[in-house]
Amino acid sequence: MAAVGVLTLYRTTIGKKVAMAVSGMIGIGFLLFHLYGNLKVYQGREAFNAYAEGLRTLGEPVFGYSHLLWVARLVLLTALVVHVVSAVQLTRIDWAGRPKAYARKKHLHTSYAARTMRWGGAIILLFITYHLLDLTFGVVNPGYVPGDVYRNFVASFQNPLTAAFYILANLMVGLHIYHGGWSMWYTLGLSDYRWSPIFRGLATVIALVIAVGNISFPLAVLTGVVR
Ligand code: HEM
Repeated sequence: MAAVGVLTLYRTTIGKKVAMAVSGMIGIGFLLFHLYGNLKVYQGREAFNAYAEGLRTLGEPVFGYSHLLWVARLVLLTALVVHVVSAVQLTRIDWAGRPKAYARKKHLHTSYAARTMRWGGAIILLFITYHLLDLTFGVVNPGYVPGDVYRNFVASFQNPLTAAFYILANLMVGLHIYHGGWSMWYTLGLSDYRWSPIFRGLATVIALVIAVGNISFPLAVLTGVVR
C-alpha cells in the first residue's frame, strides 16, 4: 500500500520535487561523510589508507568484508538515479509548459545558482563518472596501485589538468548544494519566513564547508603540502 502511495505521489510534479529533495539530502549526507573521511589525508599515508580499509571492514564481524560498504553504495546509486531521472522529467515538464519563443531571454527572480542547476548538474554527473574511473577503478590514473588510496590520490592531483577539473567540479558542487539545499525547504513545505534566514544560513555553511574542504585536496597536492 505504502509503495503504491509513493508511486502515485511520484507521478505528480510535487512528488518529483520531493524525490529530488530526499535523494539530494542523501547526497549531501554522503558528501559530508566523504569530506570527513578524506580529511585524514592530512594525517598522512597510514591514517588515510587505514580509513579506506576501515570502509571495507565496517560492520565486521556482523557483516562480511565490504558488505556494509556495498549497502551504502546501493543506497547512493539509487539516490543518484532518482535525482537525475526526476531532474530530467521536471525539466521536460518545465519546457513543455513554456510559451514557444521568448522575444528576449529573461531571468526573472532567478539567481545565478538557480540558473546553473541544470548544466551544473550535468557537469557534476560527468565529474562523478571521471572520479570513479580515477580513484575507484584507476583506469584514468597512471599511478594507480590497488589498495594504496593515498598514492592514487596524490598521483591524480599531480596532474594540474586533473586538479583543475576537480576544483571546477567542486565549485559547481558547492553552488549546487547551496541552491538545492535552500530550495528543498520550499518543496518540503518548510518555507515559513521566520525560519528562512536559518535555512539559507545552513545551506550556505554546508555548501561552503564541502566546497572549501574538497578544493583544499587538489591544492594541497599542487603546493606539495600532501605528497
Ligand atoms: C576533491 C574532492 C574529492 C576527493 C579528494 C575525493 C576522494 C575520493 C577517494 C580517494 C575515493 C576512493 C576511496 C576508496 O576507494 O576507499 C573516492 C571515492 C568516491 N567518491 Fe570522492 N572525492 C572527492 C569528491 C567527491 C564528490 C564531490 C563526489 C560526489 C559528487 C564524490 C563521490 C565519490 C564516490 C561515489 C566514490 C566511490 C565510493 C565507493 O564506492 O567506494 N567524491 N573519492
